[in-house]
Amino acid sequence: MVSTAIFAALAVAASAHPVLESRQGQTLEDYIARQFNISLEGALQNIGGANNNIVEAAGEGFVVASPSTTNPDYFFTWTRDSALTELMVTDELIFGTESVGNNSLQVIVEQYTGAQAQLQTVTNPSGALWPAGQGLGEPKFYSNGTRYNGAWGRPQNDGPALRAATFMEISEAIFQRNPNAPVIVSNVYWPLIYNDLLYVAQYWNTTSYDLWEEVNGNSVFTTVAQHRALVEGAIWAERLNKTCEPCVQQAPQIACFLANNFWNETGGYLLANINANQVERSQINADPILGAMHAFDINASCDAGALQPCNSRILATHKVWVDSFRDLYPINHNATAPAAVLTGRYPEDSYYGGNPWYITTLAAAEVLYDAAAQFSKQGAITIDETSLAFWQDIYPNATADFTYGEDADVQNLVSAMTDYADRFVSLVQQYTPANGTLNEQINKTSGEPLSAIALTWSYAAFVTAIDRRNSQFPPSWGANSTLANNIPDTCKFSSYNATTQYTPALAAGAPNVTKDCESEVIFQLLWVTGPGENTYIVGNTSFLGNTLDDTDKVIEVMRTQNYTTPEPKWFTPAWVPAGVPIEYKYVLLNSTDNSYTFENVTRYAYPAACGNNTVVSTLDTGSFPGRSYDGPQ
Ligand SMILES: *[C@@H]1O[C@H](CO)[C@@H](O)[C@H](O)[C@H]1NC(C)=O
Ligand SMILES: *[C@@H]1O[C@H](CO)[C@@H](O)[C@H](O)[C@H]1NC(C)=O
Ligand SMILES: *[C@@H]1O[C@H](CO)[C@@H](O)[C@H](O)[C@H]1NC(C)=O
Ligand SMILES: *[C@@H]1O[C@H](CO)[C@@H](O)[C@H](O)[C@H]1NC(C)=O
Ligand SMILES: *[C@@H]1O[C@H](CO)[C@@H](O)[C@H](O)[C@H]1NC(C)=O
Ligand SMILES: *[C@@H]1O[C@H](CO)[C@@H](O)[C@H](O)[C@H]1NC(C)=O
Ligand SMILES: *[C@@H]1O[C@H](CO)[C@@H](O)[C@H](O)[C@H]1NC(C)=O
Ligand SMILES: *[C@@H]1O[C@H](CO)[C@@H](O)[C@H](O)[C@H]1NC(C)=O
Ligand SMILES: *[C@@H]1O[C@H](CO)[C@@H](O)[C@H](O)[C@H]1NC(C)=O
Ligand SMILES: *[C@@H]1O[C@H](CO)[C@@H](O)[C@H](O)[C@H]1NC(C)=O
Ligand SMILES: *[C@@H]1O[C@H](CO)[C@@H](O)[C@H](O)[C@H]1NC(C)=O
Ligand SMILES: *[C@@H]1O[C@H](CO)[C@@H](O)[C@H](O)[C@H]1NC(C)=O
Repeated sequence: MVSTAIFAALAVAASAHPVLESRQGQTLEDYIARQFNISLEGALQNIGGANNNIVEAAGEGFVVASPSTTNPDYFFTWTRDSALTELMVTDELIFGTESVGNNSLQVIVEQYTGAQAQLQTVTNPSGALWPAGQGLGEPKFYSNGTRYNGAWGRPQNDGPALRAATFMEISEAIFQRNPNAPVIVSNVYWPLIYNDLLYVAQYWNTTSYDLWEEVNGNSVFTTVAQHRALVEGAIWAERLNKTCEPCVQQAPQIACFLANNFWNETGGYLLANINANQVERSQINADPILGAMHAFDINASCDAGALQPCNSRILATHKVWVDSFRDLYPINHNATAPAAVLTGRYPEDSYYGGNPWYITTLAAAEVLYDAAAQFSKQGAITIDETSLAFWQDIYPNATADFTYGEDADVQNLVSAMTDYADRFVSLVQQYTPANGTLNEQINKTSGEPLSAIALTWSYAAFVTAIDRRNSQFPPSWGANSTLANNIPDTCKFSSYNATTQYTPALAAGAPNVTKDCESEVIFQLLWVTGPGENTYIVGNTSFLGNTLDDTDKVIEVMRTQNYTTPEPKWFTPAWVPAGVPIEYKYVLLNSTDNSYTFENVTRYAYPAACGNNTVVSTLDTGSFPGRSYDGPQ
């Protein structure tokens, strides 16, 4: 009853917007069939080197987040978005889709392999590959594969974990089609995967920025991805007659951490982040929903492998998260369950004013298709106090502390769940423009597409949601394995020391970078800048542009976070060859007339010898010709 009225209300609202009109009257099945192809092609068109790509400046195999170069500029390659997109492409390859448009999917994943092998070796503001792997945590690069120096939320530790999972699924695809798979995977893929597994095992127990790049803490999504990577890594090691000691050692501690810290008993939902810098938020978020989608394994029980879609805590979180948007976005008209509504990342979101996203609304559907498939496979559904409110929304007769085992009951519950999931997809249909382009967001008031156009991840999210709706499931990653379900009684702080074990994946296409040890130096400059001015640092190492006077090589902009009136301090952490004294100087860049002023002195710094020590350089007062320092002494 309720849902019919709600759909009528939405249809009226939507008809005010001509861009949406052509979708009216098209059935959900027709929309899905057409939008699936548009989405799959749309994702490939954002990959450098693909045929008919619309991102010509991108290097071969680099996945661009969106072709948008201004407002917002998303013409970069993110490790996370790329891994999730290529995981989707690999799913398709495994489901039997050989080519899309003029592109062979196998060629697409091979080019991604080469691009990532190269990227693993690029020294960047998070650090270097050698000796301690910190460079692997860098979230984004220019789409030609070079480092991005701007201030950013870094590191983001989900990247290496997701990338490892993608390369393991690519390995599975190779096993399914190539008799030489054991040799290829051992030589080409394993070194690439192993670097990322080392990183996960070494750094999972430190904070990093979340998938929305705003919160520094531990996120459910990141933690789930880390757990999956190490469990799957251990299984692959065995399959290749190898061992993965960091995997076996750290996976149980990650499972322990995940099981004991994120559940908010009072609120009845999973907290997106803990140990976080943004404590004022409710931590109601799409993050755990996307985490469960990544943890999904059709062969797992609902309490297996840390966080399955059919787990009661995920269903409870789904309800709390979806409900948080019913009254928040005008376009949702406070529709009550069992109506679906457009969902966003989290209720406190203020990016572009805070709006619904395609990714998250499709995730609301996908995680339910996953859960429904698991319940069908298991042939039983246990409803408990935790999941009761979720179920009652879509099946008012649901009872707690009861296991539904009769075929008819299970079928009724599963179809209530699937119908609910379909209603989220119907909303996406309603707010898809006629040409099928999926942006990042949907304006919460007008329903118009908003923010970055043709977002790669929006397309990938559409494809994976529809695959699950069509009962196409990725291969098992081992969620039901003994290792995945080994949860120690007491959780401890834990890290595998992988320092000096990181190695360029040469056979996959990494350059043969020497293993010269790098160490970190933090440079600090006192200077009061004028209007339009920024400070930069140059020096005789590659990180600092290998120059002391060339304006074309000024790359390292200094950071302002610690700049105050009493202490106008700029700083830059830089990775430089260990133990080798370096020459450097500061540069003022005035963006109003694009003029450069180099210091008239050459300075020296003394990086630590090989190891992990960071040297904080002296606090330098700027010495620019024709200018004097006019701040506090
Ligand atoms: C890579 O792209 C960036 C941003 O467009 C550009 O500044 C840089 O020169 C490019 N580097 C190379 C090696 O092409
Ligand atoms: C590290 O792990 C311990 C034990 O699980 C946990 O209490 C702590 O919050 C974790 N810290 C971080 C930053 O991951
Ligand atoms: C692992 O060892 C077994 C037994 O020796 C062998 O049959 C198999 O081919 C090996 N697999 C790989 C990937 O080397
Ligand atoms: C848990 O949920 C309750 C009720 O919604 C809320 O008041 C509390 O702030 C939440 N806890 C955390 C740590 O966010
Ligand atoms: C997962 O493993 C548990 C424990 O071994 C087992 O009881 C359960 O049946 C398994 N689930 C599936 C779906 O195979
Ligand atoms: C939206 O619905 C909730 C629950 O039914 C209710 O508490 C709230 O007042 C409603 N908001 C508006 C603006 O009607
Ligand atoms: C719910 O329970 C009522 C009363 O027991 C029953 O009449 C009704 O048919 C049930 N509805 C469904 C959908 O099972
Ligand atoms: C698709 O339609 C949207 C909205 O009307 C428009 O902004 C966009 O440019 C179109 N895309 C293409 C590829 O034509
Ligand atoms: C969303 O649409 C409303 C109504 O058309 C408009 O006022 C608002 O500026 C739009 N929001 C954004 C972020 O563009
Ligand atoms: C980690 O291993 C490296 C290389 O063996 C060693 O130099 C370093 O001291 C170790 N760090 C810790 C914290 O044990
Ligand atoms: C990589 O470079 C090192 C040092 O230059 C050299 O000794 C080694 O043979 C090279 N390896 C390959 C596979 O080219
Ligand atoms: C910048 O401020 C942070 C937070 O107070 C502090 O931890 C860090 O050491 C400072 N860095 C420099 C170079 O001053």
